[in-house]
Amino acid sequence: MRGEELAFAIGPNMVVVTVREFDPSKDTEGVEAVERICEVGPSGKLSLFTDLHGDPICRVRNSPTFLMLVAEVGQETVGMIRGCIKTVTCGKKLHRHGKNTTEPASKQVPVYTKLAYILGLRVSPHHRRMGIGFKLVQRLEEWFRDNGAEYAYMATEKDNVASVKLFTDKCGYSKFRTPSILVNPVFAHSLRPSSDVTVIQLAPNDAELLYRTKFATTEFFPRDVDSVLNNHLTLGTFLAVPRGSYSPDTWPGSLRFLADPPSSWGLLSVWNCKDVFTLQVRGASRVKKAIAKTTRLLDRAFPWLCLPSIPNFFQPFGFHFLYGLGGEGPRAQKMVRALCAFAHNLAKDSGCQVVATEVSGQEPLRCAIPHWKMLSCEEDLWCIKRLGEDYSDGAVGDWTKSPPGFSIFVDPREF
Ligand SMILES: CC(C)(COP(=O)(O)OP(=O)(O)OC[C@H]1O[C@@H](n2cnc3c(N)ncnc32)[C@H](O)[C@@H]1OP(=O)(O)O)[C@@H](O)C(=O)NCCC(=O)NCCS
Repeated sequence: MRGEELAFAIGPNMVVVTVREFDPSKDTEGVEAVERICEVGPSGKLSLFTDLHGDPICRVRNSPTFLMLVAEVGQETVGMIRGCIKTVTCGKKLHRHGKNTTEPASKQVPVYTKLAYILGLRVSPHHRRMGIGFKLVQRLEEWFRDNGAEYAYMATEKDNVASVKLFTDKCGYSKFRTPSILVNPVFAHSLRPSSDVTVIQLAPNDAELLYRTKFATTEFFPRDVDSVLNNHLTLGTFLAVPRGSYSPDTWPGSLRFLADPPSSWGLLSVWNCKDVFTLQVRGASRVKKAIAKTTRLLDRAFPWLCLPSIPNFFQPFGFHFLYGLGGEGPRAQKMVRALCAFAHNLAKDSGCQVVATEVSGQEPLRCAIPHWKMLSCEEDLWCIKRLGEDYSDGAVGDWTKSPPGFSIFVDPREF
């Protein structure tokens, strides 16, 4: 992609802004400098900062196709944006089989679309309201269209006025879904495993079969789910079943499990965000930090009391992301609760400070996911735009106008 020059007049001065593709050999430092001074979300007393560990494309590099653009004034980097494209489920349709098949006469099958995702848009505070954010979005959308994407979406805090207005008022996006980000602290003590639930780790091919069979019609399900499950950042896929139904030794594989599943089961996968980027809360008072530290000291000294200690958010910290969460049966919530406790202990052993997940507002298993309200985001706003009209097979029509389903599949590569 060639650079594009834009000229802005600021007062009596003329500023020339260039938008071009990110070049790791010369832009890394400048991008990190902008990242460091850009708080995400509305500025308040406490702000969340991201450290990308010297790799500005770390949050998109696991996607099948991605691009990062930078904006510069002279030699100075003043803004950046990342985007990626993949194929996901945007709806479902009834598929009728021919006569020579053992499967049911008709079943729901996914309708796929090529979807682009925008993330990591930042403009240096000294260069805002000059049209740079808008230009970065426009250039990225051109690349999306050139690569056949039918829709583009982005996620933001609903209180982030600058971001919401930029996308909805200026760039033609509409408010689409409002899933919840649920965040739970990792305590200094381990959680006790449930005595009547067995947790089994699945091999990636077993996990894939289960996901494709049970989740492929879920909105946003990635068609390349196998590359997510096989990615080194997936620490494992875990299945919870009532004790006595299966054990790791008697696990027959997903095919036989699906033919005769137990009355209830739960499933989730764990993604290691800690190795990609870290977060840090800045702006907390000394008193708050001291209180948090005291709770951790007490929890460490008396783990049997199971004190809900406050992790150290004030130093850079990592987290695990739970994805592909689901289950079936009357005790599915219990299964998911056991899986969340298991995931907590895994995160504790890896030195993470929190475990996070994102689920649809209507997700039936949501109440089984432990989280602290003060750390979570009740309504993460996803905005969407239709980029082209001539790709989908028509079974869904315009996805941007469709009502939400009960569940969504949140891809860990984009969190
Ligand atoms: C959001 C952000 C990228 C906007 O960048 P920007 O270069 O200042 O945006 P632009 O100058 O292109 O603004 C385009 C439009 O967005 C809207 N907008 C931008 N900032 C706004 C603000 N502070 N308040 C209200 N509307 C705003 C306006 O509609 C504006 O058009 P206008 O200037 O003609 O009124 C920038 O504020 C930023 O980096 N914020 C911190 C990081 C962040 O929150 N990123 C978004 C995560 S998804």
